[in-house]
Amino acid sequence: MNKNNIRSRFSEILLRWYKKEKRKLPFRQTKEPYKVWLSEIILQQTQMNTGIKYYEKFIKRFPDIVSLANSPQEEVYSLWQGLGYYNRAKNLHKTAKIISDKGGVFPNSYVGLIELPGIGKYTAAAISSICFNEKNYVVDANVYRVLSRVFGIKTDITQTKAYGEFLNLTSSLAKTAQNSGDYNEAIMDYGGSVCLVKKPRCTRCVFKDNCVAKKKNLIAFFPVKAHKNKIKKRSFNYLVFESYDSLLIKKRNKKDIWENLYEFYLLEGKKANKTIDKLKKSLGISLLKTIKIKNKAILSHQKIDVVFNRIILEKKSKIININKKLKMKMIKKTEIKKFGFPKVIDNYLKSHS
Ligand code: ADE
Repeated sequence: MNKNNIRSRFSEILLRWYKKEKRKLPFRQTKEPYKVWLSEIILQQTQMNTGIKYYEKFIKRFPDIVSLANSPQEEVYSLWQGLGYYNRAKNLHKTAKIISDKGGVFPNSYVGLIELPGIGKYTAAAISSICFNEKNYVVDANVYRVLSRVFGIKTDITQTKAYGEFLNLTSSLAKTAQNSGDYNEAIMDYGGSVCLVKKPRCTRCVFKDNCVAKKKNLIAFFPVKAHKNKIKKRSFNYLVFESYDSLLIKKRNKKDIWENLYEFYLLEGKKANKTIDKLKKSLGISLLKTIKIKNKAILSHQKIDVVFNRIILEKKSKIININKKLKMKMIKKTEIKKFGFPKVIDNYLKSHS
């Protein structure tokens, strides 16, 4: 098949493959916008297997948009725990409230959807095509990978112009597809089960005879990402004030990582040790009474060394006093589950409380 021929037959071949091989995903049983929206938000930056577990957990707890809108934010965060990128949870809740306030009906077009918090081009295209067969096309990591390999596209996908280029290509390839939602899901499934990042299953690939990357033996080269993002290194020192049954926590509210999640008293920076000693003196805590536990939090663009300084206070009056001075929140250890914590803190709590 020549170059033009594969372009004109791409969607037909892809959709034939999809009909036979598509994954049985729980959110594929429905075209209900609430469920499709929920699954697409969860699946961003999340592996499919993990995404499915969270999707099922959310649907069980919040079977419809009104139940999600009416739940306290803490509960949504607590259920979201482990998925990361908490802005998604925040916007999920915000959007649920907006829609619920307007009678619980989702907008039925890309234009209406894109107005909502947390719904960008990708999600609006996914929902409007899957639920309403609107001709909008997704460009995600799968689309970049499959199309750059099959057609040998060398555009650096970290450049802004790449999005438009791949959107034009995928839209033009999809022209012959009857159902835009199926086309979008098919290309994402293909990227997720055949044209994999590592160890792609080229022997099973329906495009293997036409794939430029395969022919040139350059699969690992595609998609081209010229400059990888720099990783920022940080160092977090937590002071974990606790009595036998209580714990001091605080909500993170800065525009930083882990917004709206809870943490302990934080001192950031490599020189925190001196500050810790000063603070402990001013709070009247013996310097010896600290147990240090070290861990790391690896995020997409940050690597954080985390030290937990566990300070066990014997007297109730002491922890009450410190709570007042440091403007924290005192909770019972039995209540920990009600709050959303970053994964590294959650892991700490699982083994030390
Ligand atoms: N990844 C994200 N959304 C998807 C979908 N609807 N189908 C397959 N893979 C996906």
